[in-house]
Amino acid sequence: MTYKYIDVYTLIEPEVLKLRNIGVETANLDCRLLLSKSLRRRESVYNHQNIFISQSEIAKFRSLIQQRLKGKPVSRIINRRNFWKKEFELNEETLDPRSDSETLIETIIEQYKEKLQFLKILDLGSGSGCLGLSLLEEYPQSEASFFDISQKSLEIVKKNALNLGLSERSKYINLNWKVDGWDKKLITIEKNIKYDVIISNPPYIPTDIIKTLKKEVQKHDPFVALNGGKDGLDAYKSILPKLLNIIKSDGKIFLEIGKGQENCVIKIATEHGLSLKELKKDLSGVTRVLIFIVK
Ligand SMILES: C[S@@+](CC[C@H](N)C(=O)[O-])C[C@H]1O[C@@H](n2cnc3c(N)ncnc32)[C@H](O)[C@@H]1O
Repeated sequence: MTYKYIDVYTLIEPEVLKLRNIGVETANLDCRLLLSKSLRRRESVYNHQNIFISQSEIAKFRSLIQQRLKGKPVSRIINRRNFWKKEFELNEETLDPRSDSETLIETIIEQYKEKLQFLKILDLGSGSGCLGLSLLEEYPQSEASFFDISQKSLEIVKKNALNLGLSERSKYINLNWKVDGWDKKLITIEKNIKYDVIISNPPYIPTDIIKTLKKEVQKHDPFVALNGGKDGLDAYKSILPKLLNIIKSDGKIFLEIGKGQENCVIKIATEHGLSLKELKKDLSGVTRVLIFIVK
C-alpha cells in the first residue's frame, strides 16, 4: 500500500472550501473529524500536523465528505457525540444529544453536592444513555437504570456503559410508558426499590412542528425521540401520573421541557401528587428544567 506524508491542512483545504460554499460554518472542524474517522483515530487531527495516509484512507475521507455535503451531520457520520465530559456512541435509534440537555446534569449536581452518596437513578427515555451515564461518572457510588422503548438504543447504552467502565452500575429496561402498568412492571424489575432521582428528557416537539425543523434533524433524529404528539405534551401526560409510584418520598424528579411548556407541565405534575421545587434556565435563558418533589 502506498502512503503519502502530508500536512492535514493541505489535504483538507479543498474539502473545507466545498463545505464553506454550501454554508457549513464548522467546515474546518468537520473535515478534521471526518479525516480522523477515515484514519480510524479516536483523537482529533490538527491543521498543522503531518500525517501518513494511504490512498484508500483518502478515498474514504472523500466519501465521508460527500455524505456531509448532502447534509448528514458529522455526529451521524462518525456515530459519536461529546456530551458533558465524555464521548458517546450513537446509532440510528438514538437522539443526537443536545448541549441544552447538559442543564439537567448541572441542575442535579447543584442539588446533590455530596458526590460519594448512593443515588438510585432512573434515566427515563435514555437514548444514547448520555444523561444517566454522565451522572454515574459524577456519582461513583450510584446506580442507574436506563428505560427506553427502543431496544436498539439500549444496545448503544450498553456499549457506552462498557466503554466508560460503568456497566456494573447500569441496568437496561425495555418498556413503553404508553402501555398501562409500565410503572408496576418497572418497580417489579427493581424488586420494589424506588428511585432517589428520576431524570428525563422525553420527546416534546409538537408533531406539526417536526416538519419545520432543520432537514438534518428531521432526517437523522428518530421520530419517536422527537414526537410529543399534537401539543408536544403526550410523554408528560403518560409519565407524570405514574411517578409517585416509583419515586422515594424524599426523591427528586428532573424533567427537560421545550420552550414555553412550563405552565402545562407544572399543571399535570401538581394534579398527580408532585410539587414544583425549582425551574432552571438553559444558556439561552429558556426555562429548560423543572424539578419536582413529592407533595
Ligand atoms: C428526546 S429523546 C432523549 C434521549 C436522551 N435521554 C438524550 O437526552 O439525548 C427521548 C427518548 O425517549 C424514548 N421514548 C419515546 N417514546 C417512548 C415511550 N413511549 N416509552 C419509552 N421510551 C420512549 C425515545 O426512544 C428516546 O430515546
